[in-house]
Amino acid sequence: MSDAFYTQEMLDSIKKVEASRASRIGFEPRRMTAEEKEALLAKFHPDYKKENFATLEMGPNKGEQVPTELAALLQAHSRINPDEIDLTHADYDVDVLVIGGGGAGSSAAVMAHENGANVMIVTKLRHGDANTMMAEGGIQAADKENDSPMTHYVDALGGGHFKNVPELLYKLVTDGPGAVKWLNDLGVMFDKEEDGTMVTTHGGGTSRKRMHAAKDYSGAEIMRVLRDEVINRKIPVVDYTAAIELILDENGKAAGAVLMNMETHEILIAKAKTVVIATGGAGRLHYQGFPTSNHYGATADGLVLAYRVGAPLLYAYTLQYHPTGVAFPAQIFGALVTEKVRSLGAMLINVEGEAFMHPLETRDVSAASIIRECNERGKGVPTPDGYGIWLDTPMIEEIHGKGAIEKRIPAMLRMFMKYGYDMREKPILIYPTLHYQNGGIKIGADGMSDVENLFVAGEAVGGIHGENRLMGNSLLDIIVFGRNAGVHAAAKAKTVKEVGKLTLDHVKKFDKELADAGIVTDEVSPKLLPRYTHGNPKYEAK
Ligand code: FUM
Repeated sequence: MSDAFYTQEMLDSIKKVEASRASRIGFEPRRMTAEEKEALLAKFHPDYKKENFATLEMGPNKGEQVPTELAALLQAHSRINPDEIDLTHADYDVDVLVIGGGGAGSSAAVMAHENGANVMIVTKLRHGDANTMMAEGGIQAADKENDSPMTHYVDALGGGHFKNVPELLYKLVTDGPGAVKWLNDLGVMFDKEEDGTMVTTHGGGTSRKRMHAAKDYSGAEIMRVLRDEVINRKIPVVDYTAAIELILDENGKAAGAVLMNMETHEILIAKAKTVVIATGGAGRLHYQGFPTSNHYGATADGLVLAYRVGAPLLYAYTLQYHPTGVAFPAQIFGALVTEKVRSLGAMLINVEGEAFMHPLETRDVSAASIIRECNERGKGVPTPDGYGIWLDTPMIEEIHGKGAIEKRIPAMLRMFMKYGYDMREKPILIYPTLHYQNGGIKIGADGMSDVENLFVAGEAVGGIHGENRLMGNSLLDIIVFGRNAGVHAAAKAKTVKEVGKLTLDHVKKFDKELADAGIVTDEVSPKLLPRYTHGNPKYEAK
């Protein structure tokens, strides 16, 4: 690794990090008090920057605040003119239509199939292009002797600021051990000791080691197995095709979706007895200008579709900024540096070589603390794109021995090595990156939204994690609530003898509500793909 890759200021700071390293091995910085955390969040966490939020003026969450970028999409026009859509035919006619081909959608489809439903997945990119694939650190489940779902519940409740919907959190933690067993039985290659017991580690805010991982590509490994299971079961997957509007029946129940081929823009009609939204998150909306760790299609589409048929959202104002996104080098700016790096002992260090916080505070607190260190205390390390904080990765090999980085976090090592940076030798620079949508569509314990026959699973759901999710509870939730939605959507489909007359009247009604609220906008939604083209219409999603 050449020193020429760093600025002189970085090299001077690295010397200070190296000088303080030995004194930090075995030292645990104190945790913040509840009062300190509250004050920190209020001043530095992006969720508290009210100037970046807008009040919804219409729809089921009228009067509530959401990020400005999301408000624009929720209060936008449809991509279709309902009068031009022929609903007298259906290109697809299924029991259960799953919108989204990530971990939640695939789990839902597998369980709907298992329960006898004729199920189909539609996904706007490829099967598996999803945040699941990008998940690194692991999946939580209280399956060790010193642990219990109750302890898991208390950890997640505290992390979520006591806002988690109790019955959803209860389901998450009590179904957790079964979910990990299900994945293990399907063939996920979790890290194990020689005797076959699962290796588990801590995450921020956990009181027990309950993070099960497949090195640091846990999500990709889980997605590999789920995709295989969908293929083995011959569940149809219609890819490169987006759901751009939900269809209701004449009684206001979900009854399918209007689909659009992403390449040809051909419109297709999918009729279904029940629908599962599993469209994932919103990182590609780049709230408040943050970079993101999310996959290319994370544009809040499910929230838009649900809002337009009258399904309320829950906690849409709360987002997760992962404390450790890459701050340098620019080629991987915003990419995820897994929390597992801190679980393995790497500390967060400022420009002066000082450990300024406990490395495993919850994510919202950690992100706010890093922002304070850079923006208020002036102790960030200048980078070409702003500031960063050191994550002292060489500590990992000091603690666990030589080879630990390659063995435990090979994907991280590879990502930085690709650009010439060896994290075994020198610390890496991080800064918060937009990672997760804590809020989403409101559901009950059966996974159904307030619109009958419309189910939701995965990151599109709001309420499971309260106002802040703990690491590893997302891979868990996509499995627990994906499976749950599949089971219930299949059962509900059996109660629907005949789908009623299909209608898109709600789209017209929504447009009238927009006008009545005095909202003048030329925005259309769902967005489907981010715009990185500075307005060149040739490259924008239509
Ligand atoms: O840091 C991570 O590996 C991310 C995990 C998560 O969001 O659950």
